[in-house]
Amino acid sequence: MVRMRTLRRAALAALVLAAAALPLGCAKRSNEIPVGVYGSLTGTTATFGISTKQGTELFVDNLNAAGGIGGTKIQTFVEDDRSLPEEAATAVTKLIDQNGVIAVLGEVASSRSMAAAPVCQQAGVPMISPSSTNPRVTELGDNIFRVCFIDPFQGQMIAKFAKNTLHFNRAAVLRDNKNDYSVGLANYFTQAYQALGGTVVIDDAYSEGDQDFKAQLTKIKAKNPQFIMVPGYYTEVGLIARQARELGITAPLLGGDGWVSEKLLEIAEHALDGSYFVNHFYEGDPNPLVQKFVADYQQRYNAKPDGLAALAYDAAGVLTAALQKLHDEDPKSFQALMGPRNDVQKAARAKLRDLIAATKDYPGVTGRITLDAKRNAVKPAVFIGIENRAYKYVATVEP
Ligand code: PHE
Repeated sequence: MVRMRTLRRAALAALVLAAAALPLGCAKRSNEIPVGVYGSLTGTTATFGISTKQGTELFVDNLNAAGGIGGTKIQTFVEDDRSLPEEAATAVTKLIDQNGVIAVLGEVASSRSMAAAPVCQQAGVPMISPSSTNPRVTELGDNIFRVCFIDPFQGQMIAKFAKNTLHFNRAAVLRDNKNDYSVGLANYFTQAYQALGGTVVIDDAYSEGDQDFKAQLTKIKAKNPQFIMVPGYYTEVGLIARQARELGITAPLLGGDGWVSEKLLEIAEHALDGSYFVNHFYEGDPNPLVQKFVADYQQRYNAKPDGLAALAYDAAGVLTAALQKLHDEDPKSFQALMGPRNDVQKAARAKLRDLIAATKDYPGVTGRITLDAKRNAVKPAVFIGIENRAYKYVATVEP
């Protein structure tokens, strides 16, 4: 008998312990709105995550300093996924289960957004990617949004620029086979370029993390293309450019937004002179909103904001605008976001989701943001050229 009771008591103690170890989010009550931010703060694309974090924090800190949302502040929780898709899924799981976040901002890389999106969708936690451009990202569920344009537009834009502006008829494509963004953009570019009458004389591949591209570049050189389309990320692009010049290839490189990084020209040095890529943002835009953002960013971080910082600033802005509406139209639901993780909060998150989906004409620093039925933004893109190891603005292209 005594033994039985001891056992029962032990079982009870174990239960109590287990309950105490339950995710914090389950019982957490706070007077701030918990928002998750995840990205590549380290690893092969560290500048993506760092710029994104800085853009997000600039927006949130300004908002909080100005009184938050009707007096309620936003509290951000930040996780580093080390540039790895598996870690992206782990990061959002932790943000949701342990930090109890009610919405998530991230990721940059489409492959990592696609790894994390199912976790957010399953938990009913809205996720806004600032900068993932592969169409499949937002197809993963009705809780998944983005505030940037998508790759079919970007691919077509590059194809038109190459064919109609530069009058190039022969393209080589060098894609990153391990990267959903790169594979998608290579395909959209090819379709559009061929439709315009251009020829892709060779289509070769590498894998993110590779350092030696001489074998592919030797084959490309033999086909004598007028340009090489490289829809990859900055580290590999910089190395590819250098090795192309070492092999005597003088054709320029063209690329997409994956080139955006303060490290690009550090790696490439002069090898990208004469090349072009796409960005989401132009810091010389005279729009006062843009100029205030650039000045604030520069003052705080002692650096110019890149396209990723700008998109992150806008993603935080779109989320905040939806939170503000919820606060104004349905204060009970707004309060529930700070309450325990129960059905009441779940319904509040669904309302927040609907308000994000209804985003219309949000005045962002990357352009006006209206989300369509597929939870994507339709926005202009910016062409940037490289001359003498410096960037020059070429054109803004409307969708
Ligand atoms: N669009 C890229 C992707 O989907 C990410 C990216 C956006 C990188 C903007 C740099 C600048 O993977």
